[in-house]
Amino acid sequence: MENILVCLAWPYANGDAHVGHIAGAYLPADIFARYQRLTGNRVVVVSGSDSHGTPIVVSAEKQGKTPRALFEHFHARFLQTWIKLGISYDLYTHTDTENHHAIAQQMFTRLNDNGQLFLAKQKQVYSEKQQKFLPDRFVEGTCPICAYDKARGDQCDNCGNLLEAVQLINPRNRNLADDVLSIRESEHYMWDLPQVGPAIGEYLADKDSYWRPQVLNFARNFAKDLNPRAFTRDLTWGIPIPVPNSEGKCIYVWWEAVLGYLTATIEWAKLNGTPEAWKDFWYAPDNVKIYNFIGKDNILFHTVLWQGILLGMKHLGDEAAPRPGDNPTFNLPYDVPANQYVNLNGQKFSKSLGVSVEALELAEKYGADPVRFYLTQIMPEQRDADWSFEGFTQANNSELLAKWGNLAQRTLSQIFKNFDGAIPIPGALTEADQALLTASRAAFAAVGESLNAVRLREALTLAMELAGKANYYIDQQAPWKIIKVDKARAGTQLYVAAQVIDHLSVLLSPFVPDLCEAVRRQLGYAKPLFGRLFTETVHERTRDHEVLRYDAREADGHWVASQLAAGQKLGGEPRGLVTKIEVAKELPKT
Ligand code: MF3
Ligand code: ZN
Repeated sequence: MENILVCLAWPYANGDAHVGHIAGAYLPADIFARYQRLTGNRVVVVSGSDSHGTPIVVSAEKQGKTPRALFEHFHARFLQTWIKLGISYDLYTHTDTENHHAIAQQMFTRLNDNGQLFLAKQKQVYSEKQQKFLPDRFVEGTCPICAYDKARGDQCDNCGNLLEAVQLINPRNRNLADDVLSIRESEHYMWDLPQVGPAIGEYLADKDSYWRPQVLNFARNFAKDLNPRAFTRDLTWGIPIPVPNSEGKCIYVWWEAVLGYLTATIEWAKLNGTPEAWKDFWYAPDNVKIYNFIGKDNILFHTVLWQGILLGMKHLGDEAAPRPGDNPTFNLPYDVPANQYVNLNGQKFSKSLGVSVEALELAEKYGADPVRFYLTQIMPEQRDADWSFEGFTQANNSELLAKWGNLAQRTLSQIFKNFDGAIPIPGALTEADQALLTASRAAFAAVGESLNAVRLREALTLAMELAGKANYYIDQQAPWKIIKVDKARAGTQLYVAAQVIDHLSVLLSPFVPDLCEAVRRQLGYAKPLFGRLFTETVHERTRDHEVLRYDAREADGHWVASQLAAGQKLGGEPRGLVTKIEVAKELPKT
């Protein structure tokens, strides 16, 4: 058994998730986690809403709300979205909890005590009209690296490089067109990132055999030339640094957001009543793998900078230190399977430009599984992909419905009608019967290998190939004809088909869990493969927060080719489980 920690990117709580986000990180993480749970590994999926920083402040200002009101609204929307889409977090929390604040301040202290931070005057862009330092994100200009003319002061979305606002050519204030910008100095804690450079280089050295090449290349290029970076910001909405007389200085949002992977694991352990259990993931020396699921715009933070923080802290100190026998320092991510983008008609998703397909709305209209199925088919694992409503309709009607929904329905209805609602007792198996059963059993190893390597499109293709074979078998064997002349043979054919449906209900379950659970209920299984998502209010000293959790007590899944017993009673009259989509073009505007 392995301990698998699935870390999922923390979305800024200033807007709803669109299908690009879902295909980029949330869905792949969930598919992977569900597979790992089925294999019997101990899996914990953590994340939460990123509630601090300029992005939240900017949106709040625009909407005339406080940052807290804004992030709480979108946090609640995220909880709904994950439940609706079945993104099975063991804990989905946010960064404005007391738990997170306290550990983020502890991170600051650890880094400072370990000599990783130093004080320095930093040049910053200053707004003469607004009389204040501008957050990097408020500044827009030309990228000094690729010359893209809409680069933000923190990052260029065109070439993906991290920037500082003072590097931009022709800087402008994004919120005030006729502003006059100057450069002034402010005192900040700097992070001496080059100190951990050699350790980061070593970390990246042995990843060739299993990291995605584009992720590894990006990371190595960046890690070649590391410079000190500001650790604090002049901002009030965030986590104050634990230093006397430093009002108005907060920990830069990215450094505490990535720390969320650790703080959420700690919160998960507390909520479970096993407060030390997080150490099994972060300090234990063996049988641990940490995965970070992210989109490509987050690669540097998750392949170099987060590692730098963990290396610089070494561990959390005091009662949060490693136990005897643990590693002396934090475990680092094992893999960072970052995805590329999903675009819409070749354009980047952008809510402000009206280029968006909102995930919650889509799942409410069509159900989670059609969305999950299509997004897995186009998942941008190697290159950008394009969402289209024609593709979505086609995937649902010609694949999910025609090859999986109908396969289950037509087989199980015949059993229900002609064999007293129970799996028929088979006679001698023909070559064709055996060939299909052999292929079906073999699929577990093949699909499992792809899932384990986070090649999810390939895994789905392999599983659907088996569904194709099963459909071909049924068409060739035509039990609905045979039954008129040889009921025993028809019983054997339906028995064989039911075995494969049983297998497919497991093989496809990481991708389309609701549908597979429903097929299994029709097969007569009493227990579900997976656990249940639920929301809960967590009470801390000064305020409460809503979280999402996963209850696995009823779950009874296994990644093995089980043997469906002859005579097993079906769970009632089978009905169609996938609905045909007539024309999915545009979603109604809400
Ligand atoms: N909220 C940021 C984003 O959406 C960061 C996500 S990952 C984190 O891009 F770990 F850094 F929070
Ligand atoms: Zn650029």
